[in-house]
Amino acid sequence: MTKQTLSVAEAIRTRRTIRHYRPDPIPETLLDELLDLALEAPSSWNLQDRSIVAVSSPEGLEGLTWAAGGQPQPNEAPVVLVFVAEPQLWRDDNADIYDTARASGAWNDEFITWFAGETRAFQESLDQRGLLREYAIKDAMIAATYVMLAATEMGLATSPMNGWDESKVKKVLGIEDRDDLAIALMVSVGYSDEERAHPGRRERHRNLFFDRYAPSS
Ligand SMILES: Cc1cc2nc3c(=O)[nH]c(=O)nc-3n(C[C@H](O)[C@H](O)[C@H](O)COP(=O)(O)O)c2cc1C
Repeated sequence: MTKQTLSVAEAIRTRRTIRHYRPDPIPETLLDELLDLALEAPSSWNLQDRSIVAVSSPEGLEGLTWAAGGQPQPNEAPVVLVFVAEPQLWRDDNADIYDTARASGAWNDEFITWFAGETRAFQESLDQRGLLREYAIKDAMIAATYVMLAATEMGLATSPMNGWDESKVKKVLGIEDRDDLAIALMVSVGYSDEERAHPGRRERHRNLFFDRYAPSS
């Protein structure tokens, strides 16, 4: 298989939501690289408070088809990535995050002591304002965006999916009793079996402003 080499700009411009897939599996090394790139996504305070569950078993994909109300993507794609937001993860021991940054030379002990304190204060303030879930979902969505663009560069097609029942997705993943977790997005990944035209975007003046938010009527 020849590796596609697209620039980031080309990946952004050519990516389309693909709903139908050929049954061909994704080579293991390619999927591994894709997942690695997803985990490179930035996150608030580098907390990495989102996980990815790669579902490829027939039962898992059947379950996600059920959870997604019969949408074709999980039924046809060889892999569906479920992005799980972990709003309470900051409360755990995050020593591994700091050890990694210390070992790479990015952060020193003084910075880590300060940063850990600031992180906790920020997260506590989010907790008081009921925003922990929202912030973890933001982090999960950025990782999902990385996946969609990296997959495009690899010649793989994707579909972001919001249309599912959260309790059913959780059941498929074996976390039905975990109220502390939230499902952010599902992304199907595979080889396209359809041509899809760009539906286009609104004219720039509808969505793009400078200095002040100022839509014109
Ligand atoms: C957060 C999000 C959720 C989406 N959920 C679904 C979905 O459940 N099913 C689906 O077929 N498409 C879904 N889409 C795809 C959109 O319909 C699609 O991105 C939009 O029509 C623009 O097309 P494009 O992605 O090809 O540019 C979703 C897109 C986003 C960003």
